[in-house]
Amino acid sequence: MKILGFLGSPRLNGNCSKLLRKALDGVESAGAETKLFELINYNIMDCRGCSNCFLNNPDLLIGECSLEDDAASILEEYIKADGYLFASPVYDGYITALMKRFLERKIALTYRVPDSDTGLPFSRVPANFKKKASMIVTGNCSDEFSEPMGGPCYEAMEAHLMLEQVDTADRLFVGSVETIKEEAFLERMNIAYQMGIRLVKEVEKARNTKSS
Ligand SMILES: Cc1cc2nc3c(=O)[nH]c(=O)nc-3n(C[C@H](O)[C@H](O)[C@H](O)COP(=O)(O)O)c2cc1C
Repeated sequence: MKILGFLGSPRLNGNCSKLLRKALDGVESAGAETKLFELINYNIMDCRGCSNCFLNNPDLLIGECSLEDDAASILEEYIKADGYLFASPVYDGYITALMKRFLERKIALTYRVPDSDTGLPFSRVPANFKKKASMIVTGNCSDEFSEPMGGPCYEAMEAHLMLEQVDTADRLFVGSVETIKEEAFLERMNIAYQMGIRLVKEVEKARNTKSS
C-alpha cells in the first residue's frame, strides 16, 4: 500500500509540514509506504482553462495537457497510490494558492462526455471507494473557528475526491498555530500520527469490502 502526502504550505518546516510528516510516520508504522510531495518544490503551472484534458481522449488515464511542468508526473503517481494526506494552512479563509493550483490540475484525471446533461466530468480512474484521504488544516484563528476556517479548505480538497470516488477518513484542524503551547501542539501531532494509522486501516477495510 502507498499513501501520498501533499503539502500546500510554502514553509517546509512549518506547522503543516510537521503535522503531515507525523501523519506519514503513522502511515509507515501501520506498514504502508509513503511519499511526500512538498508542492512548493515542484513546477506546477496555472491551469489555462483550455479544457483539452477533460474533453478529449477518453481512453487515456490522464488527459493530455499542453503545459510542460511536473503535474503529469505527479498525477501518474497519484493514480497508482492507495490513499492521500492533504495538508494546507488557511490563507484568507481558504487553502493556499499552491494547493489550489495543484488541485485544479487534477481535472486531467476526469473526462466529460459530450453533451453531458449535468456538465459534471467523471473520473477516468474511479477508485470505487477503495481509496481514502485525510486532511490537515492549520490556521492562526483559534479552534472555535475550525468550521468557518477549516470547512472551505476541506471542501476544496475534497471536491475532486467526490468524482474520484475517494472518501475522507479524517479531518484535523489545528488553530492558534502562532501561539499554541508546545504541549498542546504535541497532542495534535499525536492525533496526526493516529490519523495516519487510521488511514491505512480504513483503506484495508475498504479493500476487504465487496463492491456492490
Ligand atoms: C497570507 C496569509 C493569510 C492567512 N490567512 C489566515 C486566515 O484566513 N485564517 C487563519 O486562521 N489563519 C490565517 N493565516 C495564518 C496561517 O494559517 C498560519 O500561519 C499557518 O497555518 C501556518 O502554517 P505553516 O506553519 O504550515 O506555514 C494566514 C497566513 C498568511 C501568510
